[in-house]
Amino acid sequence: MSLLRIENLSKEYQMGDNVLRALDGVNLGIERGDYVAITGTSGSGKSTMLNILGCLDRPSSGRYILNQKDVSQMDPDELAEIRNREIGFIFQSFNLLPRASALDNVVQPLIYQHLPRQERLRRATEALQHVGLGARLDHLPNQLSGGQRQRVAIARALVTKPSILLADEPTGNLDSRTTIEIMRLFDDLHAEHQTIIIVTHEAEIARHCHRIVRLEDGRVAEDRRNRELA
Ligand SMILES: Nc1ncnc2c1ncn2[C@@H]1O[C@H](COP(=O)(O)OP(=O)(O)OP(=O)(O)O)[C@@H](O)[C@H]1O
Ligand SMILES: [Mg+2]
Repeated sequence: MSLLRIENLSKEYQMGDNVLRALDGVNLGIERGDYVAITGTSGSGKSTMLNILGCLDRPSSGRYILNQKDVSQMDPDELAEIRNREIGFIFQSFNLLPRASALDNVVQPLIYQHLPRQERLRRATEALQHVGLGARLDHLPNQLSGGQRQRVAIARALVTKPSILLADEPTGNLDSRTTIEIMRLFDDLHAEHQTIIIVTHEAEIARHCHRIVRLEDGRVAEDRRNRELA
């Protein structure tokens, strides 16, 4: 049984008199423990697809089944709940709260879960330790390096123990050395059985993943195992 499945999924934008089809009948299944790169040229539909997988956006047509639930029919409140429970999302620009410490940023997603405050703090501390930031709990985002900020964002994505981790160009704002460090962290998380999908247009990043899905004009043009790792 797939962790998630999308069937004949399309996303259209009405632009004046024209319809722009960002996704055009995509079919895809993701298994538990998969480590997938979604690649493709600029405008091929990568972010559109990731946003739908992450319940940040809804398809125009087609089905999205996540953990055996049909997400495509849910209203925004239900989607928000599923997102909080099932999804960890990581953005290129980190999207941290600038005036909140690393710890407070990571506690954030737990506020919607009914947990005692001490338990929330304990889990957030543990998540930051897990990404190597146990000594930076009280730092504000602007007191951290780019790589450290992305680690905070990864801890925030992981703190709810999501069934799937989604990342849109997570190393796009990082130098090459820091990029390698962050990709090693994703590799470690995958080794711990975390399901991961990373959007990237860089072959160097896709190389880390075990499966590479290439989009072209909103369609799956290629879906293959990473031969380098086979
Ligand atoms: N909100 C929107 N309204 C209208 N068109 C959109 C919207 N969002 C995306 N598009 C269009 O949909 C297509 C796919 O966009 P998307 O952002 O998914 O591409 P991408 O593969 O992530 O590209 P990049 O590598 O540049 O980030 C593009 O042609 C884009 O212009
Ligand atoms: Mg994009």
